[in-house]
Amino acid sequence: MGRHTRARIDLSALRHNFALAERQAGTAEAMAVVKADGYGHGLEPVARALADQAGRFAVACLEEAERLREAGIRQPIVLLQGFHDDADVATCADLGLEPVIHSDHQLAALENAAATLTVWLKVNTGMNRLGFAPEQVEARVQRLRAVGGVTLKGMVTHYACADDREDPMTDRQNDMFSALSARYPELEFSAANSAGHFRVDSPRFHWTRPGIMLYGATPMIVESAAELGLRAVMSLESRLTATRVLQPGECVGYGATWRAARPTPMGIVSIGYGDGYPRHAPTGTPVWVAGTRTATLGRVSMDMLAVDLTAAPHARPGDRVELWGANVPVDEVARCAGTIGYELLTGVTARVPRVYTE
Ligand SMILES: Cc1ncc(COP(=O)(O)O)c(C=O)c1O
Repeated sequence: MGRHTRARIDLSALRHNFALAERQAGTAEAMAVVKADGYGHGLEPVARALADQAGRFAVACLEEAERLREAGIRQPIVLLQGFHDDADVATCADLGLEPVIHSDHQLAALENAAATLTVWLKVNTGMNRLGFAPEQVEARVQRLRAVGGVTLKGMVTHYACADDREDPMTDRQNDMFSALSARYPELEFSAANSAGHFRVDSPRFHWTRPGIMLYGATPMIVESAAELGLRAVMSLESRLTATRVLQPGECVGYGATWRAARPTPMGIVSIGYGDGYPRHAPTGTPVWVAGTRTATLGRVSMDMLAVDLTAAPHARPGDRVELWGANVPVDEVARCAGTIGYELLTGVTARVPRVYTE
């Protein structure tokens, strides 16, 4: 059993969240975004758990798509950044992958490859990372349609600010993308990420692309995952390894950043930044110990951290600790550490075994 530090992955919660995404998509369909190792939950088990529900998967890169095919996933797989190397066009064709074409360089590679494959065109509606401006689209559509063997399936764009309901940018992006969808009624369009799912006024087009919501973390700035009807998929767990009572003036951890003002029962948990728990999480970050909500004390070490047991004086070595999960939302820990749930979930290291439950 080792040190009992693990990420428990609740596949029924994953399916619950996907079902919510499907309902929100309405007449559109949701493609499951499983990049970055299924947002840290394990690419293959996540994809297999959604294989009966999802009509398409989306990943960032070829290596992830190859793993999905090896795992027996048969649905079309969208490569959100397309291919990085011209030689990969043939692999995309062989594996039935659908690269997103965002550059003239990729277009030229397709023109030279004589491969049979389906592609999407990336439209830049304001994010300014990748893609063609709306006025550049028609020329690229013509070029793609002239390439034998290549089928243009549709167009994708990506929202920059959909997590903020007050920000008018999403409406502007939707207006641009809607104009294109009216111009190309024969193509399929995809814009909404998870945040787009929670904007009832936002068009769904043909395909949505939910990622973080599937894993039960909030995509929104204000609303919590629970308020949005999402269930946490990952519980990052460990156990208490030791307990002691700190006397007034005694400190704990590197840098002696926290000192007891009164006798303080305290526990040591076998998890640290070497497992992906954020070192930036300050004293006071919530943690669940032996069924009680309490907080961390002092600096996070590589393999250990300290917790306050004032609220859980009954806690003993061996008791369960949840660093995030159903009782402590990952988004709360992320806020304390000055980051987002996405980073914490994808940052759980390979040292932490993933344990799957239904
Ligand atoms: C192009 C694209 N589509 C969809 C997603 C899913 O976004 P989210 O996890 O916010 O739902 C991402 C994630 O970053 C993305 O890059």
